[in-house]
Amino acid sequence: MSQVLGTTELNTVFDEDSVLKQELLEGLLAEKKYINPKFFYDEAGSQLFEKIMQLPEYYPSRTEMALLEKHQDEIAVAIGENKVLIEPGAGNCEKVQYILPTLQPKCYVPIDISADFLFESASNLQTKFPHVHIHAVADDMKAKVDVPEKFKTNHKVVFYPGSTIGNYKPIQALEFLKHVRELVGKEGGLLIGVDLQKDKEILDAAYNDKDGVTALFNLNVLNHVNKLLDSDIDAELFEHVAFYNEEHCRIEMHLESKVNQQCSIDNLIQVNFSESERIHTEYSYKYTIESFSQLAAQAGLKLENYWLDDDELFSVQYYVAL
Ligand SMILES: C[S@@+](CC[C@H](N)C(=O)[O-])C[C@H]1O[C@@H](n2cnc3c(N)ncnc32)[C@H](O)[C@@H]1O
Repeated sequence: MSQVLGTTELNTVFDEDSVLKQELLEGLLAEKKYINPKFFYDEAGSQLFEKIMQLPEYYPSRTEMALLEKHQDEIAVAIGENKVLIEPGAGNCEKVQYILPTLQPKCYVPIDISADFLFESASNLQTKFPHVHIHAVADDMKAKVDVPEKFKTNHKVVFYPGSTIGNYKPIQALEFLKHVRELVGKEGGLLIGVDLQKDKEILDAAYNDKDGVTALFNLNVLNHVNKLLDSDIDAELFEHVAFYNEEHCRIEMHLESKVNQQCSIDNLIQVNFSESERIHTEYSYKYTIESFSQLAAQAGLKLENYWLDDDELFSVQYYVAL
């Protein structure tokens, strides 16, 4: 069997700055203000998210990693050999390390919008797994990924941990699942981490840690916005608000203005915030195995197997193309 020695190819295919600015402006000028959660991840945001993953209250990351570690053999059997493994929003590439040794993909393709962070993570991963070919792509996760010619195959599997799927409204999640189905083709699969519905107290605590790290992470998005828009929004005049909305089965994160205030963007545009007005920054939808597998079925993906922790806090699910 031939073996490909690992090389990390660093490909930057960035969104135009102006497109990002336009998207941010639309959100801040909307009647109900919002900022897309992808703007959380400047360098400071990525580092704060690393800290969130260590918090005692934040059960998703450690529960998911324990599941991947415990069931790595079964996962490798379910996925099969010779796959190209594609991870949208790979971040620090930490979770894939639990499945790489048993899965041994032909090629691993991490994709992330935070280019520097991705390339650093991919290089570190390469050091640990010198024999895995890593093809890192800095791009939006919905972009069409180009697998290097020599690794083109019908055996593609998307790895999408972290319950990142929960950040989409169900209708958008369905769209993303359809994109995944198209990307992997009829012989492909999807290994996905999905956070589960549970007691409101556990969920509220996970997004309101006592050290205030999640609050800092949420507020930091305003610093990133200032850099991108040349604006003067004062993060200290906003408050982190996060709660579980039982009706919609989702965590909602907002930034609430503490006072009536005006901010300027690029010395050209004025944005007004009234006291208690909120900027919506993130949803995190929680599913059951049934509700998520029904959604995936609409995208042409069939639940093949799933793994749960003893407390049924989190799930890792494997789907194959229908
Ligand atoms: C919450 S982290 C999850 C990281 C990793 N998947 C995990 O489970 O540990 C989300 C990652 O997705 C990236 N990201 C967010 N929005 C993105 C987008 N639209 N396209 C590509 N990457 C994105 C961020 O830069 C960040 O590294």
